[in-house]
Amino acid sequence: MRTHLCGEVNEQLADQTVRLCGWIDRRRDLGGLIFIGLRDHVGIVQVVVEPESPAFKAAEALRNEFCVRISGRVRMRPESQWNESMATGKIEVVADEVELLNASAPMPLLMTDEDGEEIRLKYRYLDLRRPRMQHNLRVRARMYQAIRRSLDNARFTELETPILTKATPEGARDYLVPSRVHAGQYFALPQSPQLFKQLLMMSGMDRYYQIARCFRDEDLRADRQPEFTQLDIEMAFVEEAHVQALAETMIREVFKDTLGSDLPDPFPRLTWREAMDRYGSDKPDLRLPLELVDVDEHVAHIEFKVFAGPANEDGARVAALRIPGGAELSRKQIDDYAAYAGRYGARGLAWIKVNDASAGLDGLQSPVAKFLDKKAWQGIAGATGAQSGDILLFGAGEWLTVSTFMGQLLVKSGHDRGLAAEGWHPLWITEFPMFEYDEEAGRHMAMHHPFTAPAISDAGALLADPSGSLSKGYDMVLNGAEIGGGSIRIHNPEMQQAVFKLLGIGEEEAQQKFGFLLEALKYGCPPHGGIAFGLDRIAALMSGEESIRDVIAFPKTTTAQCLLTGAPSPIPDDQVAELHIRNVSKER
Ligand code: AMO
Ligand code: AMP
Repeated sequence: MRTHLCGEVNEQLADQTVRLCGWIDRRRDLGGLIFIGLRDHVGIVQVVVEPESPAFKAAEALRNEFCVRISGRVRMRPESQWNESMATGKIEVVADEVELLNASAPMPLLMTDEDGEEIRLKYRYLDLRRPRMQHNLRVRARMYQAIRRSLDNARFTELETPILTKATPEGARDYLVPSRVHAGQYFALPQSPQLFKQLLMMSGMDRYYQIARCFRDEDLRADRQPEFTQLDIEMAFVEEAHVQALAETMIREVFKDTLGSDLPDPFPRLTWREAMDRYGSDKPDLRLPLELVDVDEHVAHIEFKVFAGPANEDGARVAALRIPGGAELSRKQIDDYAAYAGRYGARGLAWIKVNDASAGLDGLQSPVAKFLDKKAWQGIAGATGAQSGDILLFGAGEWLTVSTFMGQLLVKSGHDRGLAAEGWHPLWITEFPMFEYDEEAGRHMAMHHPFTAPAISDAGALLADPSGSLSKGYDMVLNGAEIGGGSIRIHNPEMQQAVFKLLGIGEEEAQQKFGFLLEALKYGCPPHGGIAFGLDRIAALMSGEESIRDVIAFPKTTTAQCLLTGAPSPIPDDQVAELHIRNVSKER
């Protein structure tokens, strides 16, 4: 149908005849002369239809997004009209034939960034025509190719695992599929291929990878979808360092291949504890030059109980965040930060504006300055490096709560003030706690998943002191996003039983849910470990998109619906009955 692609017509084709297919991006009628931007998946070319052209009548009837075929001669534009930023910017195509392939109803959306997300998702097939979306999906495809090249070179085998399966817990609810042939029984869609990839190591596959769809029924945000894609990796006969080295090399190669970007070698590493202490986050954004500083020792002696209390308590902290130039923040802006911190558990947010660093206490403006003595301020100023024009924000209280809300403030204030550096800033987070204690449930929860090996290899010792134990888990973080997580796995049945026990999974339940794994662990299981990357998140970072929805062809909304197809949707009663289930109305 066509001889060339719209976006590839350039000056080398001058005076040649081309036949192009595409959509009308824009049509301008300039007193008899019609200009058409003709768009295909590569780019846009300018087509001119002159009044005397046999195609003129047809061109007059064209509207945006009509699908057409155009034949014409490539002509150089006058130099004054060159558009150097476009591959097709030095030429235009003088049309002598315009064939309407299909007209379009008026567009339900503007086809620009102004369109709201709801309308974009409803007419996703139109939204995807936009160059921005075309670009995003193609970057993603290039990334997939780079991944496969890298892992194939490293002697991995790409293997598939079931979608209709048994629950694999990763901390979310399962999507369930009722069985028609087995009344009252259900498949679960995998939250990850975790257990199958471990079984594949027991099978001697040695190095596995899969670009795997995962399903999690959880609260959605910009960086979470109910179905998303992991690059899932598992290796036999490895320790943490092997998996990390392999993963790091792969990610470096993928960024180089896909974007031409160089990532640091090696990636910096922080333990979880250090990350929380210094950045108040297990996914620090190293583009920001901000850090939390402990000032406990400088305020332990002062009258102000809000500070002195936590400063003298175990498991508590008084953390300061210095925002350079932040003294210009208005009262309202500070109140907004306090409210923001409140969403993460802060009960207050003390602050000090340093108007004149050389004037000691007299140079400060703050609701808490009156509680400080010279010694306290000197200590704080020294620890934070406070300069004239800065603001210091303070959080005091329980260690994890303070770390968390101060970490959120660090990221928010840093980005608000435009402090983020350019480029890629990856790092590893290691030495995660094995468990988190859930006060509400009154029991331990796995910080990663129940198959993660503890740092200590003695099951008895773990059972004796679970709270303080660390795991062999690790996360890869890039520009403040958790892009991957993994661990060395438990490879003996006793340790697995011990961890289940600590997680409150009784023997019977363990057998019922994971009996196949416990059984498999008996037959010479090799030590093994792996990692999984969130490919949607990496694709979003690569495309400079805030939301992973913009790098997924047909994503779901934040309320887990597909606005295009209308899924989920009711099913007919006979189909419901066939599945041995019954709809219970909400207002029962
Ligand atoms: P984890 O649960 O950390 O580990 O998931 C791995 C990575 O997947 C991405 N991710 C998501 N992306 C989009 N939407 C979601 N709802 C979502 N949930 C997770 C994140 C995350 O880092 N089986 C283990 C891996 C292993 O131990 O090897 C697992 O699934 O980028
Ligand atoms: P109060 O004595 O409660 O009026 O608090 C005095 C100042 O300390 C106010 O600016 C509060 O916002 C701040 N503040 C109160 N609780 C905390 C806290 N846990 N961490 C940091 N600042 C706090």
